[in-house]
Amino acid sequence: MTGSQPGPVTGPDAGPGTSPDAGSDAGSPAERISADWLTLREAADAAARESTRGPVADLLSARPPGRIVDVGCGTGSGGRWLQDQLAGDEEWVLLDHDPELLAATARRLRTRSARGPISTRCDDVAGLDAILATAQTPTLVIASALLDLLTAEQIDSLIAAAARHRTPMLLALTVTGGMSADPRHPDDHLVSGAFDRHQRRGGRCGPQAPAMLEQTADSRGLHVDRLQTPWVLDAAGGADAALLQQLVPDRARAAAEQLAGESAGAADETAGGPERARRWGEDRLAQIRAGDLRLQIDHVDLLVREPADDAR
Ligand SMILES: C[S@@+](CC[C@H](N)C(=O)[O-])C[C@H]1O[C@@H](n2cnc3c(N)ncnc32)[C@H](O)[C@@H]1O
Repeated sequence: MTGSQPGPVTGPDAGPGTSPDAGSDAGSPAERISADWLTLREAADAAARESTRGPVADLLSARPPGRIVDVGCGTGSGGRWLQDQLAGDEEWVLLDHDPELLAATARRLRTRSARGPISTRCDDVAGLDAILATAQTPTLVIASALLDLLTAEQIDSLIAAAARHRTPMLLALTVTGGMSADPRHPDDHLVSGAFDRHQRRGGRCGPQAPAMLEQTADSRGLHVDRLQTPWVLDAAGGADAALLQQLVPDRARAAAEQLAGESAGAADETAGGPERARRWGEDRLAQIRAGDLRLQIDHVDLLVREPADDAR
């Protein structure tokens, strides 16, 4: 595990949903996250996380991990962000319920600088507990852009696993629902509210995830540091413009869909909502093309640990 030579990339392991004929969809994604979208957002994610570097450096030096578990690893951007702060010979366990993302991410991690063993586990987040139960070495759990996709029950299972196995967790880039724009648009509030409700579809926590996690962690005696990690996107900058061109129409579409579903009992301020959300998307796209939009989307990184682990 701590050898200096590259270890094998193994997996998928024998967890639920790992074989084509497993007969269970417990670990399969109902809605796939696009790898292109994850790639597009990686630079903005890294830029947003400057405030997290210090507290993470403190944690790593107080408790150097021999193993990293990346939950909901996707294309591995959370791991790449952490890699240059690690020794390089740690073991990696990649957990995701999407088998296609998993295989490619393990290969990518190896070609970067990971020298320890890498394994994959195709499973739901509930599989974390079994992974932590096998710990032979101090482990750090990371997850990025995941919490808002989870239900309260799934968040509770993450926290329960962290508490049971006394394992710190770095949970990055969860949306809080905050959005501000320059210039303003009369329907910013309408679109933002509808988008947040859309994110809570199917019992997902959406922007309530950080508060939900903090409450759950508190009830299990864990300490949580909340670090502000907003995307600050400027259409006048090349990479930000590409991200905005994807994000704004997606947001407008989701808000329009949400408002269309709510229209029967809608309050006055949402009257004509779907059409207004579509127009908001068109107006904002025109501003992006003209290089005239700055959008801040708020996120937080959450560092969860036992109070005694406090490295500051
Ligand atoms: C928004 S992506 C973020 C990916 C990656 N962490 C990053 O920052 O680029 C969320 C990832 O979590 C995975 N995921 C979502 N819900 C999950 C669940 N309940 N169990 C396991 N993986 C899940 C998705 O397949 C996807 O790869």
